[in-house]
Amino acid sequence: MSGSDGADTRSGPRVVLGVSGGIAAYKACELLRRFTESGHDVRVVPTDAALHFVGEATWAALSGHPVATRVWDDAHQVPHVRIGRGADLVVVAPATADTLARAAHGLADDLLTNTLLTAGCPVVYAPAMHTEMWEHPATQDNVATLRRRGAVVIEPAVGRLTGADTGKGRLPEPAEIYEVCRRVLARGQDLPDLAGRHVVISAGGTREPLDPVRYLGNRSSGKQGYALARTAVARGARVTLLAANTGLPDPAGADVTAVGTAEQLREAVLKAAADADVVVMAAAVADFRPAAYATGKIKKKDGEEPAPLALVRNPDILAELSAGRPRPGQLVVGFAAETDDVLANGRAKLARKGCDLLVVNEVGELKAFGTEENEAVVLGADGSETPVPRGPKDALADRVWDLVVTRLA
Ligand code: CTP
Repeated sequence: MSGSDGADTRSGPRVVLGVSGGIAAYKACELLRRFTESGHDVRVVPTDAALHFVGEATWAALSGHPVATRVWDDAHQVPHVRIGRGADLVVVAPATADTLARAAHGLADDLLTNTLLTAGCPVVYAPAMHTEMWEHPATQDNVATLRRRGAVVIEPAVGRLTGADTGKGRLPEPAEIYEVCRRVLARGQDLPDLAGRHVVISAGGTREPLDPVRYLGNRSSGKQGYALARTAVARGARVTLLAANTGLPDPAGADVTAVGTAEQLREAVLKAAADADVVVMAAAVADFRPAAYATGKIKKKDGEEPAPLALVRNPDILAELSAGRPRPGQLVVGFAAETDDVLANGRAKLARKGCDLLVVNEVGELKAFGTEENEAVVLGADGSETPVPRGPKDALADRVWDLVVTRLA
């Protein structure tokens, strides 16, 4: 395979790594390493500001290619057009507020922004900056513009920033950015089909406290919900993940909020759903909670049987959302965990809950909960029935997004 300059000797996918001028530029060295060690052919395009943090020699040595930094270097090779055109993926990490602004406004004042304008392939931005800069309406508008045009902009992580302060704005770990890029590349040259969409996903299982040391819980691991989050990030969505007691590492690029009980999950879902295009209730929500919470540990008493446990119903979040639809045209997806009469129960549940799609799983001791694989039938309110054969949870997640995308269109 050869590019327009006829000089292509690559074997793996061709990646352009744009580096802009933030302290996190040093983490891009690790990202570069991951790409090259897994067979990608990487051209690094640092901005002038990035070179204040990490020098040209480092990028050249790690990528195995000379580093073009200016539009005027090797002008006879027309680098401002050639680099972008030949890429399978452009990833900008870190993407500063300034680089996001220049990209959103279509400026072409350096080699990186020229490359962004000529790239026909998917583009991933991994922003890193101080919290105030990230939250500023100017930055948020620029991010929304880039997402609307089809870019994948992964949410910054929360943690230690440049100085002593902490907050949102940290560059996600290189391994996580790499993982997002790997998924985007695996989708080929299709531009991200959830770009510009906000999706809310609940995952895990709620816990309903009985006393300070005990709770009623369930066996949901959260893995299917996390697979939905990871795949939605790679398809360009802004992802809000509401995680109920999962203990899993945050998926890169998603905004994660931890919740405990069904009541807390309900509050978080309704808040996040206000501007969501899609809500997926993958969490296993406890249908009941103890009628009373004991502020001290419940003690056994010699010679006495324990008092029966009184329970009350929890709100049905999925049914409430489906009936209320906080945003017009919003799609609501439910999950159904069934042990018997799986399809018949699934159909009845879809009608009862009023959602658009219901992913019906058969569960049991060794089925679905905690495992790496899943199989399901996705039922549609339009009467459709889509079987998804046993496979990785990511594959089921992608199938769910395929069905969502056709319905959003
Ligand atoms: N769900 C919910 N709120 C609840 C219970 C369940 O939002 N209080 C959602 C789950 O997130 C899931 C769907 O409803 O998307 C179905 O969950 P499931 O446990 O299978 O159904 P139940 O409502 O518990 O129905 P049943 O008791 O008949 O199994």
